[in-house]
Amino acid sequence: MAVTFDSPDTRNLLDQTRQGIIGKPLDRPEGALKVSGRATYAAEYDLPDCVEGVLVPATISQGRVANIHMDEVRAMPGVLGVYADAAMLRRPAQGGAGKAPVQDVSRIDYPGQPVALVVAETFEQATAAAKALRIDYDETGDGAGFDPETAEVEPPKKPVDLGDLDRAMGTASHSVDRTYRTQGHASAAMEPHAAIAHWQDGALTLYGSFQMVAYNVPELADSLGVDPDKVRIVSPYVGGGFGSKLGVSHEAVAAAIAARDLGRPVRVVLTRQQIFDSVIRRSETCQRLRLACDDSGRLTGIGHEARVSNLPDEDFAEPVTQSTKFLYRGDNRRISVQVVRLARLTAGSVRAPGEGVGMQVLEAAMDELAEQVGLDPVELRKRNLPETPPGRDKRYSSRMLVQSLDAGARAFGWDRRKPRPCQTREGEWWIGMGMASAARVNLLSPAKARVRMLPDGRVEVESDQTDIGTGSYAILGQIAGEMLGAPIDRVTVTLGDSALPPGGGSGGSFGAASTGSAVLRACEAIRDTLAERLGVAADDLVLQDGFARGDNRNVALSDLLASDTLEEIGEIAPGQAGKDFSQASYGAFFCEVAVNAFTAETRIRRMTGAFGFGRVLNAKTARSQCLGGMVWGIGSALSEGLEFDLRDGKLMNHDLAGYHVPVHRDVPDIEVLLMEERDPAANPLQAKGVGELGISGAAGAIANAIYNACGVRARHFPITPDVLL
Ligand code: MOS
Repeated sequence: MAVTFDSPDTRNLLDQTRQGIIGKPLDRPEGALKVSGRATYAAEYDLPDCVEGVLVPATISQGRVANIHMDEVRAMPGVLGVYADAAMLRRPAQGGAGKAPVQDVSRIDYPGQPVALVVAETFEQATAAAKALRIDYDETGDGAGFDPETAEVEPPKKPVDLGDLDRAMGTASHSVDRTYRTQGHASAAMEPHAAIAHWQDGALTLYGSFQMVAYNVPELADSLGVDPDKVRIVSPYVGGGFGSKLGVSHEAVAAAIAARDLGRPVRVVLTRQQIFDSVIRRSETCQRLRLACDDSGRLTGIGHEARVSNLPDEDFAEPVTQSTKFLYRGDNRRISVQVVRLARLTAGSVRAPGEGVGMQVLEAAMDELAEQVGLDPVELRKRNLPETPPGRDKRYSSRMLVQSLDAGARAFGWDRRKPRPCQTREGEWWIGMGMASAARVNLLSPAKARVRMLPDGRVEVESDQTDIGTGSYAILGQIAGEMLGAPIDRVTVTLGDSALPPGGGSGGSFGAASTGSAVLRACEAIRDTLAERLGVAADDLVLQDGFARGDNRNVALSDLLASDTLEEIGEIAPGQAGKDFSQASYGAFFCEVAVNAFTAETRIRRMTGAFGFGRVLNAKTARSQCLGGMVWGIGSALSEGLEFDLRDGKLMNHDLAGYHVPVHRDVPDIEVLLMEERDPAANPLQAKGVGELGISGAAGAIANAIYNACGVRARHFPITPDVLL
């Protein structure tokens, strides 16, 4: 079978198997370990003679390191070494290129940039020495700006410019031309970035917290100047990533460099402040939305021109217009992203890079247009879904957007919404309802997985695929159990070790479908062997509860296996299907808010999300992903925003006391509708990404509900009370 996925796979094997576990809301097999403290996270490995490293951040904003007074702290109690190696001070890699950008590391590009590592026998000694380390700087200030509003803007890369948007705007029956701003976000994963490095005979074992092990090995090897064969990464449990662990960052490289020098294992754990200051941020954005439509609300033009920021030399530019390119009609289109260079930590992927803050703004503008046309916001969306992606020689694969809009509206009770704002008051609270579409591109990543069927019918699945809290262990086990007729308690899944076949990794919502497809293919190969042994055609083979059936035969799998172990490696890679089809997951958000008439404080009262993302692999973990996305939508709408001092680029709210993620009190009951479907163009599982879908537009529904409540259009996110007053 071709490795690349080139054309839609309509075989639907998973709908013909009879094991009955695919899609079911099964618990995570590792869940009990996690909640009882028995799952070992990166910092928790207990290695003999392990010593502790603490990174030292730059205290200036821009300039050069002139001198590090290492000798002073080397004399302090317990101190074993001070390091300022070029490789360990590189910016974080972005988890795909295989390399971090090469740079002059005596240069300080942003405040908080790590400049040295101090290693001591104990954490307290290392912390004390790191605090005492004196560093002389030349504050040259020859770098980027501090203020995104005044920094110089680079020309856009690959802008879309179709027809004549200015003319469409000029001749439209209705139009909207608005500029929205969103503040930056922190990934704020619960588990901090942590690494323990252990060298034996010139080979490194690194216990770390990563999303993309198969990419992190070459990144780390590149930083260390060793062959990737000499690097093993162990990362079986990851306490959240949200993009911040896509690539290797300072703690891993620094631990490895110090451990190699000292001949002892070295642990480096970033503090919460160091993570905020130096790992990865989502860029703030400034987005101009232009929408033009005819009398009936059909879009004739759409403009989405954005400005985002990053450090000099970084390629990543928050792709906020990603879904605007294919979501709605409008022949006249101008869509572009421009970058300004700022002295702020590296901007990179943070959950749903692009749609995470792009969709909420597009959907806020759509709400403004719906009001002008005098059309229900749901109806405006439905009138503007093109037959084929505008300006592209592609077809849509499955698209559950209309169904999600309808089902979500029904479940939520959208018909009770009053079209005009300021119509419902309860005490000192204005009440309102809003909605938004959800869209997030679907991706397939190259992946391999090994599946073994043991003589007694037990099944083992192995891949370096990570589980960042998403449910990889559960899902991959369900696919193998379903395909091979094994009850779920007879399936063991081992993940997160680079010694295992390289999975797709946890990024871009593609992990489950990519590595799951590799598991599926390995299982298909095992099924072929079993069918042959049973003497039936592969299509006639039924595997269920440890028995193989077909052609009036019914044989225990253990008999069919004799004493053999069947082992296969399945593999998938993106192919032509990814080019022929515009693939995305879709959905709809509905929200009811209360806005305080005196304080402008906003409370979310209810939220409903309906999501179509192909086959549901596990209804519980999928729902949890949708919930998590919508909770971040609440944060993005109301409270989350990185605050930089415009005079020196310093991040003012670099911890969870100042950067406010929603807490339980902020989150109401959220209803999630899983719109089960199949997408044969996506991959052999017919499943699409869900991890990032739930955030992609959610904050727009909240902004629109706020307008419906109190009549104020918020064009700045987060919508803190000062924005409304
Ligand atoms: Mo995702 S932001 O690609 O982890």
